[in-house]
Amino acid sequence: MSTSLTDTARRGDRPVFDNGVSAVPVRELTPTGKFTPGLPYELFGLAPCSPAIGAEISGVDLARPLTDELHQELHRALLEWKVLFFRDQRLTPIQHRDLARWWGTPEVHPFLPKADLPEVVRLSRGADSPAVENVWHSDASFETTPPMGSILRAVHVPDVGGDTLWADMAAAYDGLPEDVRTRLEGLCAVHDFTRSFGRRLGPDDLARMQQKYPAVAHPVVRTLPESGRRLIYVNRIFTQHIEGLSGQEGRELLEFLYDQARHPEYQCRLRWRADTVAFWDNRATQHYASGDYYPHTRVMERVTILGDRPQ
Ligand SMILES: [Fe+2]
Repeated sequence: MSTSLTDTARRGDRPVFDNGVSAVPVRELTPTGKFTPGLPYELFGLAPCSPAIGAEISGVDLARPLTDELHQELHRALLEWKVLFFRDQRLTPIQHRDLARWWGTPEVHPFLPKADLPEVVRLSRGADSPAVENVWHSDASFETTPPMGSILRAVHVPDVGGDTLWADMAAAYDGLPEDVRTRLEGLCAVHDFTRSFGRRLGPDDLARMQQKYPAVAHPVVRTLPESGRRLIYVNRIFTQHIEGLSGQEGRELLEFLYDQARHPEYQCRLRWRADTVAFWDNRATQHYASGDYYPHTRVMERVTILGDRPQ
């Protein structure tokens, strides 16, 4: 018989209160990896937003072509801080797409509406189309090779509200009780678009897209090749079940893993202004866009960069 997660928390390295609630372990959170934390950045200013995730970059104009040196240093910052914020960036859709090309091939998203270019997704929310991004997720994990990164630009934002939060899923993995980490070894979970984007499709289109994007199994814990960091890679929107676990056991384990993104210790939060750009490592993080601005309007444009098969 399997061990329940409550038993795990009681026995594990998480403080547990009398009512059974377990707290996140208090420990040092650092942006660790092979990319030596604390190494200085020469080509821009960098101000961390939290101990482990999120940094605001200053002194960079993303509308101008990057240099190899600037690209390399921004890439190091992205791996170290997982999400970078840039203020006052007036990007055309072409400049937005061309920025993404420094990191790889911009994706043409199979479902979302586009802005002028096929690679630029336009996300327009308001009274007529309420937000649906207020669920923790990583973008397009239903793909065989999900995006390595997403670059999101604010076109129009409400006076207040509509913040986006990101969670560091490597820090969340590090904070798991030891025996949960052991249980996750070798497990794979199935990801599928059917219950999210598939709900908008008629039967014929759904069948066609399911053939093109069949459900795919990814490791529950993936390792980033550049840093060797291990991280939780399941999310509430696209993950369906864990292979080889019974329904209840798998659901309980997934719920526990999904909930890790909710701990503020692993998060940073961005208050948008028009022309703010956020660039996140879509492998290492999950994000959540607060829907608190309804019925006001929030318009964003996004380019995602194709990634590798999770390992
Ligand atoms: Fe997203």
